[in-house]
Amino acid sequence: MGKDVIIACDFDSAQKTLDFLDRFEGKKPFVKIGMELFYAAGPDIVRKIKERGHKIFLDLKLHDIPNTVKKAMAVLSGLGVDMCNVHAAGTGRMMQAALEGLTRPDGSRPLLIAVTQLTSTDEETMRRDLLIDRPLDEVVMHYARTAMEAGLSGVVCSPLEADKVHNVCGKTFVTVTPGIRFEGGETGDQKRVTTPALARELGSDYIVVGRPITAAPDPVVAYERCIKEFLN
Ligand code: C5P
Repeated sequence: MGKDVIIACDFDSAQKTLDFLDRFEGKKPFVKIGMELFYAAGPDIVRKIKERGHKIFLDLKLHDIPNTVKKAMAVLSGLGVDMCNVHAAGTGRMMQAALEGLTRPDGSRPLLIAVTQLTSTDEETMRRDLLIDRPLDEVVMHYARTAMEAGLSGVVCSPLEADKVHNVCGKTFVTVTPGIRFEGGETGDQKRVTTPALARELGSDYIVVGRPITAAPDPVVAYERCIKEFLN
């Protein structure tokens, strides 16, 4: 898999999503389906977007006991998505179980990555709410190493951590990085943010961009700007 921009299609209906994708005439952006859309539109929206020829990152961030995650992943692997994920906080054993569930009888499977710390969490929140008093970087690197040892292909982290993750886990360990904002753009609930250009400099493999594209006056122009800054 190469470098790419993934659009977070955080919409509450299939129709809104398909109308949004219709604007990208002739282009087939890599699409992320998260909880909002999946809970609203179900597995059918995954099939529909796939039929249209898009690559899909199914971002459901599973986090449960290993057996439940394994069985849920076995169901998701049948949808033919390209990438899906779990929370690394679910432990190495849960991540191994996820991988087993995801692996199809012919040995193929989507890329499985782990969320380290959400990009809406900063060190202070982590200390106060999660009672984790280590530096955020150290926590992210530990989760990345645990994910790698469990056999996963990469992590979701902030672009600010992508370079370190590559140093710890190797260059082929994939970094998928949300928390992307254009220069001077609204950060909203995100805390560890960078621009697409900085994400490229820091070595992100994939940037995940939601509101800066979906809420832009012209989403196609915003997408092209991301591609230009991130890939060129
Ligand atoms: O709108 P925005 O660009 O902030 O969207 C970021 C997307 O990436 C959202 O769909 C969010 O759920 C997802 N995400 C994230 N941080 C993570 C993992 C996923 O923001 N660590």
